[in-house]
Amino acid sequence: MTSTIDITTDQALKARHRAVWALGDYPAVAIDVIPELGPELVAASGVRAGDRVLDVAAGSGNAAVPAALTGASVVASDLTPELFGAGREFADRHGVQLAWEEGDAEALPYEDAAFDVVLSCVGVMFAPHHQRAADEIVRVCRPGGTIGLLSWTPDGFVGQLFKAMKAYAPPPPHGVQPPPLWGDEDHVRALLGDRVTDVVARKQTLSTDLFPTPDKWLAYWKTVYGPTIAVYRGIADDPERVAALDRELTAVAARFDRGTDATVMEWEYLIVTARKRV
Ligand SMILES: C[S@@+](CC[C@H](N)C(=O)[O-])C[C@H]1O[C@@H](n2cnc3c(N)ncnc32)[C@H](O)[C@@H]1O
Repeated sequence: MTSTIDITTDQALKARHRAVWALGDYPAVAIDVIPELGPELVAASGVRAGDRVLDVAAGSGNAAVPAALTGASVVASDLTPELFGAGREFADRHGVQLAWEEGDAEALPYEDAAFDVVLSCVGVMFAPHHQRAADEIVRVCRPGGTIGLLSWTPDGFVGQLFKAMKAYAPPPPHGVQPPPLWGDEDHVRALLGDRVTDVVARKQTLSTDLFPTPDKWLAYWKTVYGPTIAVYRGIADDPERVAALDRELTAVAARFDRGTDATVMEWEYLIVTARKRV
C-alpha cells in the first residue's frame, strides 16, 4: 500500500515536473519544431470520426488537435495546465473543440475502458514511473481499442541531449526512470505486456533545418525547453559548468547534423501502436 509519505513525495515530484514544463515556451517547440509528430501519431493510430480519444501528456495539443480534426471526441490531458491556453488557441485556429483536463499520467482521472484510442506524443515518456503510467494507459483504453505512443529514442538526438544534461542536474529521486527508455521497443513491449496484441513498432526521423548552426539551436532551446532551462538554472552560479554544458549540448547537436551546406538536424523517435486485448 502507498504510504502518506510516498504520496507527499510523489506530489512534490509532480509539482516540480509541472513547474519545469511551464518554463520557457514549450508550445513554440510543438508548433515550430515538431508539428508533424502529432498528425503522424494520429494517422498511425487510425483515429476516426466518432472515436473517444484521450491524449495523455497532451501539452498544447500537438496530437489532440489533429485527432479532433478527424471528427473524434478528444480529451487533452496534461500535468501542466499552464500549456492549455496555447492549446486552446491552437484548437481555435483549426476550428475544433476539445476538452482540456489536468491529470497525472500515473493516476488518470477516468474510468476503466473510457476511450477507444489512447495516444501520447513525446508525452507519457516524461512521467517518472513507467509501469504505473503504462498501466493507466491500458486501463482507460477499452478492450479492442488502440494505444498509440510516440517517444524519442535513447540513441537519437533528444535521448542523447537528456544523457548529456544528466551530469549537470541533481540526481533524480529513487525510482524515477529515464524518459528515453520509452523509445526502446523492448521496454515498451514489456510495459504493455500481454494485455495488448498486434504491436507494431517502427523508428522514424524528424528532420529540421530551422537552425542555421548548432549554436543557434542551443540559444533557442535554452529559451523554450523547460527541462533544459531548469538544468541551466541549477548551475547558473558556476560559469565554468555553464560553459561546459554549452559545449556538450552544441557537440550533441553537431553530431546529429546531417546537412551539407546548412544544418539539418535529425531527431529519431519510435512509434508503437497496439490493440488492447479483448
Ligand atoms: C515534450 S512535452 C509533449 C507535449 C505534447 N504531447 C506534444 O507532442 O507537443 C511533454 C509533456 O508531458 C507532460 N507531463 C510530464 N509529466 C507528466 C505526468 N506525470 N502526467 C501527465 N503529463 C506529464 C508535460 O507537462 C508536457 O506537456
